[in-house]
Amino acid sequence: MCGITGYIGDNKTTDILIDGLRRLEYRGYDSCGIAVVDAKNRLYLKRVSGRVDALDKLVAADPAKGAHSGVGHTRWATHGAPSEDNAHPHTDCSSEVVVVHNGIIENYLDLKDKLLAAGHKFKSETDTEVIPHLIEEKLKSLHVQEKAVRSDMLEPVFFEAFRRAVADLKGSFAIAVVWARCPGMVLAARLHSPLVIGLGKGENFIASDVSAFLKHTKRVVFMNDGEMAAVKKDGVDFYTFQGKKTAREAVTIQWDSTMAEKGGYKHFMLKEIHEQAEAVENTLRGRLLPLGGDILKAEMGLSAEAMKAFSSVQFIACGTAYHAALVGRCLFENFGIPAYADVASEFTDRAKLMAPNTLVMAISQSGETADTLFAVREAKASGAKVLSITNTVGSTLTRESDYVLYTHCGPEIGVASTKAFLGQLAAIYLLGGHFAAVRGRLPGGDARRYAEDLLKIPRLIEETLEKETEIAKVADGFAASEHFLFISRHINYPIALEGALKIKEISYVHAEGYAAGEMKHGPIAIIYKGMPLLAVAPSGRTLELMAGNIEEAKARGAEVIAIVDQASQKTVKASRYIVLPSTDELFTPMLTVIPLQIFAYYVALAKKCDIDKPRNLAKSVTVR
Ligand code: AGP
Repeated sequence: MCGITGYIGDNKTTDILIDGLRRLEYRGYDSCGIAVVDAKNRLYLKRVSGRVDALDKLVAADPAKGAHSGVGHTRWATHGAPSEDNAHPHTDCSSEVVVVHNGIIENYLDLKDKLLAAGHKFKSETDTEVIPHLIEEKLKSLHVQEKAVRSDMLEPVFFEAFRRAVADLKGSFAIAVVWARCPGMVLAARLHSPLVIGLGKGENFIASDVSAFLKHTKRVVFMNDGEMAAVKKDGVDFYTFQGKKTAREAVTIQWDSTMAEKGGYKHFMLKEIHEQAEAVENTLRGRLLPLGGDILKAEMGLSAEAMKAFSSVQFIACGTAYHAALVGRCLFENFGIPAYADVASEFTDRAKLMAPNTLVMAISQSGETADTLFAVREAKASGAKVLSITNTVGSTLTRESDYVLYTHCGPEIGVASTKAFLGQLAAIYLLGGHFAAVRGRLPGGDARRYAEDLLKIPRLIEETLEKETEIAKVADGFAASEHFLFISRHINYPIALEGALKIKEISYVHAEGYAAGEMKHGPIAIIYKGMPLLAVAPSGRTLELMAGNIEEAKARGAEVIAIVDQASQKTVKASRYIVLPSTDELFTPMLTVIPLQIFAYYVALAKKCDIDKPRNLAKSVTVR
């Protein structure tokens, strides 16, 4: 996700903004910039497609004079590849309004069409750029340009124009905005994207998270969704989006800067596990309804007709992304669509043998995994169309794909993939629903139920995360184990594989994921007394069979930890239970993986492993 900084006060504004961006670098970014209002009330704007150091050099070579307010931004691209033009801050036509934004403006295409029709000129491909032009339009509607607005009216006019612009936005946004004609106030607004105000003495700060300004002040106000802030150097006022003033109490942060980067969590991995509801919500946002319509055409050129024309789907991916691919195969087959999934490095001769009109779906968080890129090239060479699901805008994979669906998870810092996996699943369920609906496999009420169930998942993820302490206790009981077994069936079989991978990669102990139906064919021989066996057994068509597998494992001495829901708990005889909220069996992977992630995390924590940077592993494997 992007990083926002804002400042107003009498210290060196550009230094404070750039230092704040440096402290947000951990969030991952591809470009950055700052904008300040100088002593002559002119906008000073510097942006780079690159690192904060390069921005610092650019500013030092041409310093701003007498600035007392401004905003800064580190961009993690979501709409529009990394480039200087797409870097924030973005301005309006008059170059007097300047905005930084974190989130997704869902209705930006409609807004952009209207603004273009009103004569606005755009310079970027971003969704963000509609915001300054919208504010400019609202300022016009308040007749700012026609009549000389008294200086004491500038602030209320600026506030009202911003409030009206925010009212037109749909999606998720944390915004900070400056107007050159009103340098004594920086405005901010927050909806589904974090924004925090730092309260100093004679100066005040805005940021995506406290790490940006913690060295200046520990007194903060975490903005609420649906809230605006009018930030002046001597004080901050808060308002609802309707313009009603609200009283907010400051809190004092006890974190040091390292903890602040992790949002108070001990590791990025745990922070990212807790960001999964947001990752799913942001990936689904504005792309689901109407199911089977042309909703994806504008963003990725994938029309309902095009979806219908594909004969089958071939997933290719590596590691955790491959486990998402296996869920995808199961989901598409469930809708009667022939689907295959291969580890990218094993997708050798298959490229030439795919059925005509096969759609290759490449899944890759980084979009740079060499094995996946190689397999995509083989697929393209055989004439297949490629759709990539990736978290990284402008990555190599996106440039070699016919269609790209971005998971909007924000940068994943922990090497062990968690929120990116949930984002991949959300993208797969999104596509699966559309592909099924265009084929009449989700008629009327079924389509509505599918969409409703899918849209409930973020809340159910939050409910599942509330089990963290309980799961940690279970994990502590097995931290000394040298072997772990994970079993499940059908659409949760990939989750057994993912649970095993998580333990292996962050705890360095042996673990295997198995199709439960395979136990009798050999693996049951490895079970010893006290061996931890995690069985994913939600309600569904395979529950009775899973219950049998669990009995067999227990009879041979395994300590079975069953991942169940209220109903399936009654059927399964385990040693311990982790009870999850219920959802349709089809969607259970988005919940059942979470206790396995948390379990792996606490086993690794007990073993004092380097959880965010496990030995021998890289976040992106760019070699074959
Ligand atoms: C996941 O925890 C691992 N870090 C690894 O398996 C990863 O999923 C795999 O390397 C694929 O990476 P990608 O999604 O960036 O292609």
